[in-house]
Amino acid sequence: MTRVFLVGAGPGDPELLTLKAARVIAAADVVLYDSLVDPRVVAMARHGAKLIDVGKRCGKHSASQMEICRLLVAQAHTGRNVVRLKGGDPMVFGRATEEMDALHGAGISFEVVPGVTAATAAAAVLQCSLTKREVARSLHFLAGHGAESGLPAHDWVSLTKSGGTLVVYMGGQTLPGLAAHFIEAGMAPDMPAVAVESASLEGQRVLRGTIGTLPGLVLGAKATGPVIVLIGEALEMPDELDDVLLRVEAEG
Ligand SMILES: C[S@@+](CC[C@H](N)C(=O)[O-])C[C@H]1O[C@@H](n2cnc3c(N)ncnc32)[C@H](O)[C@@H]1O
Repeated sequence: MTRVFLVGAGPGDPELLTLKAARVIAAADVVLYDSLVDPRVVAMARHGAKLIDVGKRCGKHSASQMEICRLLVAQAHTGRNVVRLKGGDPMVFGRATEEMDALHGAGISFEVVPGVTAATAAAAVLQCSLTKREVARSLHFLAGHGAESGLPAHDWVSLTKSGGTLVVYMGGQTLPGLAAHFIEAGMAPDMPAVAVESASLEGQRVLRGTIGTLPGLVLGAKATGPVIVLIGEALEMPDELDDVLLRVEAEG
């Protein structure tokens, strides 16, 4: 019987958890969770479960990631039900590989429970299809922050030429450089671009602009929650949708 689970906690709102995630969290003896996991999700563990905050924010890994792997394997070896809770989906910019390798290496079997990733949570907030028919034929998930801190060396020209929707994780800080690279690669400065902060959470905010204007808007907004950036023609929205978004924000 599987006793170790890598579980996607989704973007924040506990109602966006899968039924399976809710079930394994409730049955866990030990829960190791990241900083982006909503406290209400962690609180779904039973009374008496051991809750371990292995909090690490994007960009700060390496040594602490090794420590997390060591801790995960040590807890799994006890034979108890162990849940490793990760924000969004574990397989999307979630450092799942290191943890799965550590478990494999220790001969521990496990299961992965997917979660709603920030890109689709943001699309839901925006009421915008990321693969709008005849507008965006591909969808690209990009890291806005590399292992060596700063912007990763993406193929800016190919991404620009793809004509697909680009979704940038961990790009709040590096957005000015990212936008400059895209414009230099030939992207029109008026390409629609949107930033969503804390999608599905109380502090949710939407900043709409273009690849030329969004960096300034994000800088001015002084975000404190996680920010995801979406770029592409599919993000072009009729002005009437502004009212819908304002209502969604007001209803929080
Ligand atoms: C280390 S990555 C983890 C991604 C996660 N595994 C997922 O599938 O969503 C963290 C980044 O995800 C994005 N993110 C996560 N939760 C978010 C949320 N509720 N609202 C907006 N962006 C979010 C932000 O870009 C943040 O910097």
